[in-house]
Amino acid sequence: MKKTILVTGGAGFIGSNFVPYYLAKYPDHKLINLDAMTYAGNLDNLKECEGNANYEFIKGDICDRPLIEKIFAENNIQGVYHFAAESHVDNSITGPGAFIQTNVVGTFTLLDVARLAWKGNKTNRFLHVSTDEVYGTLGETGLFTEETPYAPNSPYSASKASSDMVVRSYFHTYGMNVVTTNCSNNYGPKQHNEKLIPTIIRKALAQQNIPIYGDGKNIRDWLYVLDHCKGIDLVFENGLSGETYNIGGRNERLNIDIAKKICALLDERMPRADKKSYSELITYVEDRLGHDRRYAIDATKLETKLGWKADENFESGIVKTVDWYLTKR
Ligand SMILES: NC(=O)c1ccc[n+]([C@@H]2O[C@H](COP(=O)([O-])OP(=O)(O)OC[C@H]3O[C@@H](n4cnc5c(N)ncnc54)[C@H](O)[C@@H]3O)[C@@H](O)[C@H]2O)c1
Repeated sequence: MKKTILVTGGAGFIGSNFVPYYLAKYPDHKLINLDAMTYAGNLDNLKECEGNANYEFIKGDICDRPLIEKIFAENNIQGVYHFAAESHVDNSITGPGAFIQTNVVGTFTLLDVARLAWKGNKTNRFLHVSTDEVYGTLGETGLFTEETPYAPNSPYSASKASSDMVVRSYFHTYGMNVVTTNCSNNYGPKQHNEKLIPTIIRKALAQQNIPIYGDGKNIRDWLYVLDHCKGIDLVFENGLSGETYNIGGRNERLNIDIAKKICALLDERMPRADKKSYSELITYVEDRLGHDRRYAIDATKLETKLGWKADENFESGIVKTVDWYLTKR
């Protein structure tokens, strides 16, 4: 029998990689994509799904309770993959309200409607997509495990941490079948221009200064977006209810090294007319407020309990990413 799932935020960066992946992997399932189409949503990234009889797009807000109730009343939703969020840390510093609204109130609204619609059904599952930023910042050593205490430092990470807690409470209080994934920084095709890697590529190709915060030595643990999608799929299918799973590719990189790597790839592919390296455009700018120094994920639980392994390493993933942006120019 056909299974119906609800994906929220499917027009965003990770969602628009996940939706075609899911439709291809489960050709007999129906996927409903609910997305409010904020500035971060882009339906061009889902063109390959248009015309697929198993795919339906609904424009709407996860905070709109009557709409969510209607979607659950009209469809036998058996799974929720909850990606929708305000996701850009810089925006959370200038306008935190939208982050509390979508990430906290929106997650609560979805969960609560699902709980009531599912009436104690323990087979239907709610997967909450979260971030490693909930754990705060690391010093030079150590890794985030699922046991690391939450210590969010930005309004973005605080709103994600809050939503994780609401999800947790629905397991402990109502016995709802929920799982949460906490992933490190993603990169790959379809990411919004505002994020680090697309910004580096865009500024370089426009021959403009490539802005790098502070001393460029902040460390992020980069994961190719499709490896994240595969991890989410695996956790939904085989994860234990009420558990959280960290997802990360063991790919720690300094921000400045990311910029230099991308510049080197562009030097090979699109040499500048004056033959100078794009890296000469790198410019240090005033640091982000409250900028976390280092994130790094220990994905041992996902690897050992569920058999997950990243297919891409950073060297292969960044080549695919740069080449994708070059074909989209
Ligand atoms: N990008 C990363 O590196 C990363 C890493 C770990 C976890 N995450 C998490 O993964 C999820 C997806 O991240 P992303 O990078 O694809 O984000 P994104 O900003 O690219 O996309 C978010 C999508 O959600 C939609 N949306 C926003 N508010 C909404 C609302 N109120 N109702 C319905 N839809 C709404 C937007 O229109 C957009 O399509 C988020 O929950 C984020 O916290 C992201």
